[in-house]
Formats: sequence, C-alpha cells, structure tokens
Amino acid sequence: MKQSYSPHKLNKFILLLCCSILFINCKQDQKSEKIEAATTLKDAYKNHFLMGTAVNDGQITGKDSLGVQLIKEQFNTITPENSMKWMFMEPQQGEFNFEMADRYIDFSEKNNLVFIGHNLVWHSQLAPWVAEIDSKEELHNSLKNHVQTIASRYKGKIHGWDVVNEALNEDGTLRNSVFLEKLGPEYLTNAFKWAQEADPNVELYYNDYNMTQPAKRAGAIKLVKNLKEQGAKVDGIGMQGHWSLEGPSLQEIEESIIAYSELGVKVMITELDITALPNPWDLEGAEVSQNFEGSEFMNPYTEQLPDSVSNKLAKRYQDIFALFKKHQDKISRVTFWGVNDGQTWLNNWPIDNRTNYPLLFDRQFKTKEAYHSVMQVAKDSTF
Ligand code: G3I
Repeated sequence: MKQSYSPHKLNKFILLLCCSILFINCKQDQKSEKIEAATTLKDAYKNHFLMGTAVNDGQITGKDSLGVQLIKEQFNTITPENSMKWMFMEPQQGEFNFEMADRYIDFSEKNNLVFIGHNLVWHSQLAPWVAEIDSKEELHNSLKNHVQTIASRYKGKIHGWDVVNEALNEDGTLRNSVFLEKLGPEYLTNAFKWAQEADPNVELYYNDYNMTQPAKRAGAIKLVKNLKEQGAKVDGIGMQGHWSLEGPSLQEIEESIIAYSELGVKVMITELDITALPNPWDLEGAEVSQNFEGSEFMNPYTEQLPDSVSNKLAKRYQDIFALFKKHQDKISRVTFWGVNDGQTWLNNWPIDNRTNYPLLFDRQFKTKEAYHSVMQVAKDSTF
C-alpha cells in the first residue's frame, strides 16, 4: 500500500532532522573544545622549560578544588607560597612543624609535580625568636639546625631549594638582615654548604627580586661568584619577576638572563606576575615592608579589567614569553606567583584590598587574554 505523508508528519520529520544536525554540531563543538583544553601551558612549553605556579594551603588541603584541578591540568612544577617559610616550619626554637610541608610534598608526589622548596633562609616571615638571639654562636647553630633539619627531612623529594632569598639591597650590597648583622657574610656560604651536606643531589638556588636592575644584577653576580669561590654549590639563580606593564624593559630582562647564564648556572623565573594597577611611586620588586594608603584612584578596576589594559597585559606577557623562548637554552623553569587573580598577593601589596589582575587565570579560573597570548608564543614558530 502506498504511504502518504501528511504535512504534520513532514513537519515532525523536519524537526527531527534539525535536532539531529544540531546535536551533531554540538558534539563536534564539544570535541574541538576538548582538543583546545588538552593544550595546556605545561604541554605547550614542554620542549622549552618547566611551567609552574605557587600553591597555597587551600589548594593542598583540597578546599580550593577548582584551583587543584587547574594546577594539575596546566602546570608541572609547584612552589609553596608561604608554608615552608621559617615562621611556619620552626615557630619555636628547635621545634619543627612539618605537618603542612609534608602535605605539600605528598601533593606533588601524587600529582607528579616537580617540587621547589621555598625557602631556607630569608629575613622576612622569620619566627620572632630568631631576632631575639644575642650570641653569634647560638644564631650560627640555629641557622645550621634549621637548614639541615629541613633539607635532610625532604632529601630526595625536592628538586631544588631557594636556599637564600632576598639577601641583597637594591644597590647590590648585602642586606643588613639579622643574619648578616650577627654572623657576617659567611652565613650565605654556610647555608649553601649545609643544604648540600643534607641533600647532596638537590639543586640549590639564590632567589631575589629586581634582578634585572644593573646595580642589583652586579651584586647578585658578585655574590654567586663569591659563593662558588668559597666552595659552595650554586645550581641556579631565581629572578622572581614581580614586574609591571612598563618595566623592566625587555632589554634589561634579556641582558640579565644572559649575564646570569654566563656564570654557568641555570636561570629561573621564579615568581612571575605583572601588576595591572597604578604604581605612582614607581615601586619595583617585592619589598614586603612597603605599604601605602588606598584610594579609588589607586584601585580603578574593581569590577573588571578594561579591554585596553587587558590588551596591554596580553602584549606584555607575549613579549616576555617570546624572550623566554628565545633563551630557552638558559631558562629551566618559569613559575607564576599564584594560580588566579583572586589569590595573588598583589591584591594586598603595596596597598591592601585592591583588585589586581596579574596572572593568566581570572577569579573564576577562566583563561584570560594573557593566557592565550602566552600559548600563542609557544605554538607560533615566528616567536
Ligand atoms: O596566615 C595569616 C592569616 O591567619 C590572617 O588571617 C591573614 C590576615 O592578613 O594573614 C595571613 O598571613 C598572610 C600570609 O601571606 C598568608 O596568606 C600575611 O598577612 C601576608 O603578609 C603574607 O604575605 C605573603 C608574603 O610573601 C609575606 O612576606 C604572600 O602571601 C606571599 O605571596 C609573599 O611571597 C613572597 C615570596 O615568598 C618571596 N618573594 C616576594 C614574594 C611577594 O612578597
């Protein structure tokens, strides 16, 4: 019997057909999104250098589950942002608290992340008892005990230690910290030697900010040469990279990468972020004791970053990563100082409670324009 098609049936058929086409398109979109998502920072730069981030306690305890997901997806190395500093590791003289540090190490092992210890010796975030020690001998022994206890506990588990952090002034001279004042410059060589004795295979770094400024750069070069002459092992120099839209210049960054590499050590960008907010004092670096009054003028983008500034940030990241890629033979790692814009220390420095945008992921963990420009540099052979 001949079948007849009613207009009603025909409409139904057309509707079904449209739905099927829509479904197939939607599937294809999902597929291409998946392909896009599979291309991550760590994959994009796998032939160039390690890609890392600072991580915080919220991520290690799993409270920040989206942060954890992003860390696992995008990065292959982590640095604890705060929890391995002296005030947390040895809050009372001779009494160590390893609980959080152990969890950081577990996290890195479970997720196959290269672990960077931060840090063994720093004048800031020290436990208050250290500054109260009067005798040179006692401070010497306490420093030795601190370095050796921690470095030996994590022997074989840590890829590299920021052994000494921020020991230089801006003019390249040694900072007058409690350690320099009471122990003299030998504390620097000793710290490196003690760390090496405790864990002979771990990489040892000197880490500081404003490492692109000529006077400080000269000081850092002199310091590392001295350390080596005195028999200390120094494997790398960490240029922190707390930079702005305007400075340092690409030329200063490039000259510094080359100068440090000529010392025969690895160069690392260890704490990268680029502030997008006004800085009328022309502050550079990360001197944590600097703090200023806030105002609306100083915090102009409380809702969102305007396109014009977002474009500038993306272009700045693009230029910087093009330079890193050019010098990939000298650079072993690039680590961002924080996962997303909501978590950066730059929301509170040098003014409390601002809304800053220095990283590659926004407050909802979404990729920013700057992320795409960094990815573009990796993919594009013209960079
Ligand atoms: O833990 C307390 C918390 O209990 C309290 O409620 C809260 C209130 O302010 O403060 C919390 O402590 C803060 C701590 O970070 C942990 O979040 C401190 O106030 C704050 O000063 C501290 O800032 C850290 C800073 O080092 C301290 O010097 C930043 O998070 C951290 O990003 C920053 O990292 C340093 C590097 O280690 C070395 N290079 C410079 C870099 C930026 O300053």
